[in-house]
Parts: sequence; C-alpha cells; structure tokens
Amino acid sequence: MDKIKIAFFDSKDYDKESFVNSNVNDEYEITFLETRLSKDTCKLAEGNDVVCVFVNDDVNKAVIDKLYNMGIKLIALRCAGYNNVDVEYAYGKIHVVRVPAYSPYAVAEHAMALLLTSIRRIHKAYIRTRDFNFSLNGLTGFDLHGKTVGVVGTGKIGRIFIDICRGFGMQVIAYDKYPAVDAGIEYVTLDELWERSDVISLHCPLTDENLHMINSESMAKMKKGVVIINTSRGALIDSEALVEGIKARHIGAACLDVYEEESNIFFHDYSNHIVNDDTLARLISMPNVIVTSHQAFLTKEALTNIADTTLENIREFFEKDTCKNEVCYKCANLSNCDQAHDKKCF
Ligand code: NAI
Repeated sequence: MDKIKIAFFDSKDYDKESFVNSNVNDEYEITFLETRLSKDTCKLAEGNDVVCVFVNDDVNKAVIDKLYNMGIKLIALRCAGYNNVDVEYAYGKIHVVRVPAYSPYAVAEHAMALLLTSIRRIHKAYIRTRDFNFSLNGLTGFDLHGKTVGVVGTGKIGRIFIDICRGFGMQVIAYDKYPAVDAGIEYVTLDELWERSDVISLHCPLTDENLHMINSESMAKMKKGVVIINTSRGALIDSEALVEGIKARHIGAACLDVYEEESNIFFHDYSNHIVNDDTLARLISMPNVIVTSHQAFLTKEALTNIADTTLENIREFFEKDTCKNEVCYKCANLSNCDQAHDKKCF
C-alpha cells in the first residue's frame, strides 16, 4: 500500500516535533500546513487521504462536502473535544476519529495551577517582585482547605481534578449528565452546585444543550465571591454575562483557558496589534481574571500521546475494520462515544 497522506492543518512547531518523532518509520507522508482548515483552505487537502485537525479548525457542512468530493476518507482530530466538527453531517460521508485522552493530568493540573495563581495572587506578586516591589497590600488570598468545589463533568479530567482538590482538603460536589456509579462522588443538581460551591470548575464537553450554561441566571444563584474555572470549551460560559457578574463584584474571580471567541485569537501573537474583541479585552483588564491561551493540554507527555494516538487511529482505520476512537454520530450518547466500536460506524 502507498504511504497514507495526511494534510495536517493549523500546525505549530511543537506539533511538528511530536508527529515527526512518532512517525519513526516514515510510515506516513505528512504535509504540515500552518493555515487552519476552512472552506477557503480545504483545497490544500487535495491528494491526501486524511485531514488532521485541532480545536479551532472549523469542520462545518461546506468543508465536509468539499473534503468528501476530493476523496478524503478520514478526519483525524488530534484533540478530545469535537464540537468544531459537524459529526452529524459527516456521518455516512467521512469518518471522524479523535484522541479521547492524552493527558487528563495536564488539563486537571493546569486548572489547579490557574486556581492557585488566582486566589493567591501569584500573577500580581510575580510582577511586583520583578520590579523590587515587596509590598503585600492587596495580595490577601484564601485557603482552599475546607472550601467546596463544584465539578461539572466527572469524566477523565474531572475525576483527576476531584482527586487534586481532595488533596487540598476541599469538599467536592459534582454534576454530570451521566453520573458515575459507585465513584464515591456526591452528585447534586446543577442548581445545588451553583448555590453551594466556592469554586466551580467545568470539565464537560460543549453540546447544544449546555451552551452558555454559565449565564446571568445561573450566576445569580452562585455564592458571592465564587471562583469560576473553565478549561473545557469557551462557549460553556456567556462571556458578556461573566464580565457583568465580575463588574457587579458577584463573581470573585475567573480562570479561563478557553474563550468562546478564541478561534481567531488564541495560538497567535497579537502583542503588536489592537485586538478587536472588547469582551476579551475587558476580561484581560480585570485583576481577578486570568486567561491562558488554550494551553492546558500543553505538556510533553500530552503531545507525545496525541501524536502516537492520532497516528495509531489512522493506522487502525486503514488496516482494520474497527476504529475504537471513532466519533460516531449513531451512538445514542455522543458524549460517551469513546466506547470500543466493534466495526467502523458506517
Ligand atoms: P470525558 O468524556 O472523559 O468526560 C466528560 C464528562 O462530561 C463525562 O462524564 C460526561 O458524562 C459529562 N457530560 C457530558 N455532557 C454533559 C453535560 N451536558 N453536563 C454535564 N456533564 C456532561 O472528557 P474529558 O477527557 O474529561 O474532557 C472534558 C473536556 O475537557 C473535553 O470535552 C474538552 O472540551 C476539554 N479539554 C480541554 C483541553 C484544554 O487544553 N483546555 C484539553 C482536553 C480536553
């Protein structure tokens, strides 16, 4: 068989390094493209068998039609979330695979790093001491020990985050649409979670039903001073409502690794530009908001796992009649779609 050809969209130096290392025997012909996949750029995939995409490549109906017409057989997501792919429309045309877990520790640890940075004012202290300002005024934090954390989504990342929080002596409550049985987790309703939590951390996928699950209505139910952490997907939070909640001094702090309008901003250097997104600019201007640029996954371990699993998914797809990491629309429960499939889904 000829080498499998992969058009690799939205590639960064760290992607190239990990994929070149994983492609040890030169089994695949990978074309690294810096541009994102969109209806205007998908013609660059012509002549390939696979497109490999990341979180901000927009794989909508028009893109799927174009890829299908040029004979692309597989969309290989090198991430866990798949809200940027119209999987329903792709069904029956192009198969979709993903990397369901690459380092849940990376994301859970980043969520805790953001939380500690925020509540202990490390981001402020770092800047002060670099300027030989050793004053402590305004740096008072609070103990995590004894506080209640509400975890939304108790899958791979959520559960590790729960373990980390328990290590800090926090009380954990959780909400999951599909609660785990016998996991020793106290599940509550979403409303109860909003009402009881001192810290809220989101670890669920973005779906039509939970878009803007944190909005002015849900925030009104939260404790004054609550800290909100989002390392999942930006659109779980209504960002404009979050700005208002912080301005009203109701929301104590926000730690955001994702942002609903991140796709044209994150992963790029705009330090010499005027950013047009007023909501993001307002959030970044606030002393109690920390924004990182979708970097929670970015550890050496995760990059190696992403490359290994993506290439293994592609190998499995072309060599066997199974593909355990297929994102299968026909699964009744899409969000638990990392089950082992007996056969390719169509
Ligand atoms: P997972 O699939 O193991 O767990 C997700 C959990 O959310 C499951 O228990 C599921 O039942 C639950 N869930 C589904 N719909 C829900 C809803 N409407 N409300 C509440 N819970 C719901 O996924 P994993 O690996 O834990 O990842 C979680 C999310 O983290 C991903 O969907 C992705 O968006 C995000 N992520 C972010 C990264 C980053 O770099 N910032 C990297 C990797 C993942």
